[in-house]
Amino acid sequence: MRDTSRLDLTVETLGQSMAMPIGLAPVGLAGMFARRGEIQAARAAATEGLPFCLSTVSVCPLDEVAAAAPPPWFQLYMLKDRGYMRALIAQAKALGCPVLVFTVDLPIPGARYRDVRSGFTGASAFDSTLTRALDGISHPGWTLDVFLGGRPHSLGNVAGAMAAGGYGSDYLGWIKANFDRTVTWKDIDWVREAWGGPIVVKGVLDPEDAREVVRAGAQGVMVSNHGGRQLDGVRSSIAALPRVVDAVDGQAEVYLDGGVRSGLDVLKAVALGARACFIGRPWAWALGAGGEKAVVRMLQTLRAELTVAMVLTGCTDIRQAGRELLDL
Ligand SMILES: Cc1cc2nc3c(=O)[nH]c(=O)nc-3n(C[C@H](O)[C@H](O)[C@H](O)COP(=O)(O)O)c2cc1C
Repeated sequence: MRDTSRLDLTVETLGQSMAMPIGLAPVGLAGMFARRGEIQAARAAATEGLPFCLSTVSVCPLDEVAAAAPPPWFQLYMLKDRGYMRALIAQAKALGCPVLVFTVDLPIPGARYRDVRSGFTGASAFDSTLTRALDGISHPGWTLDVFLGGRPHSLGNVAGAMAAGGYGSDYLGWIKANFDRTVTWKDIDWVREAWGGPIVVKGVLDPEDAREVVRAGAQGVMVSNHGGRQLDGVRSSIAALPRVVDAVDGQAEVYLDGGVRSGLDVLKAVALGARACFIGRPWAWALGAGGEKAVVRMLQTLRAELTVAMVLTGCTDIRQAGRELLDL
């Protein structure tokens, strides 16, 4: 039995202090879940002392977010236009973004049948306009607040790389045509040279890839299967984590995202060697349900659950959580 009246949940990561080992993973188009959604989520994260990672394909652009909340971590998707990418990275740097998260598991979008149904693929422009119109009519609150009040809905960071009119009705088609599929490990050199700060490579499941990340000079590895949205059947992040941690062997920080739904999930991941966990859908759901306040409440719930899990496992300092907690 241990005195658990004082708990330390804080962690240090890439020169940043986190009030608990949880961050908000990049979620594209979050400005469609709530009015200027990325700003609301970034503010909620700041209230709780946690990092918010802004997606390349966010609705709110970097400068709008950085003007309303602490400069976010910035997630990079590599478009084919390197001149545009260089300027975007320079902007993130100039705005004071502390970490660049380079996502490497989306050379093309996965097979997303739900997106076909919801009119995101341009399968039929008529169907997609009709589907969206029906959606709008059946959600009048969202239509007024977000669709009409939350404009512009263009993807703020990449609008300049798109034809006038944005991606039209074919978001996934635009990605397919514009994301750079030639990216390999050598491109980390290019990113490092353009960025000059800490880099986390996101989308790693394989220990050998994790070693490549270290060899390429990045400071962090995000174990992630993109929330299961890319390839059905790949292993879960939590199953991949221990081997990645062993492969990295302390030479980079290891994070995890995917399926984290409770404070207990966070403790399990940290005990298996993750420095921190990132959450995707939970903040998107909270944002859609109740905006900034609901995201704060959800983060406080995770904190309360993590506290229970720590007290009941006798873990007083999250940084000391190890595999012995899991009785493996
Ligand atoms: C709607 C949605 C949009 C996403 N957009 C991005 C993105 O723009 N960039 C990225 O690196 N990952 C993106 N992801 C993946 C998340 O960053 C994260 O890896 C995943 O959501 C974690 O799993 P979870 O949703 O189970 O927490 C997205 C995920 C969702 C659900």
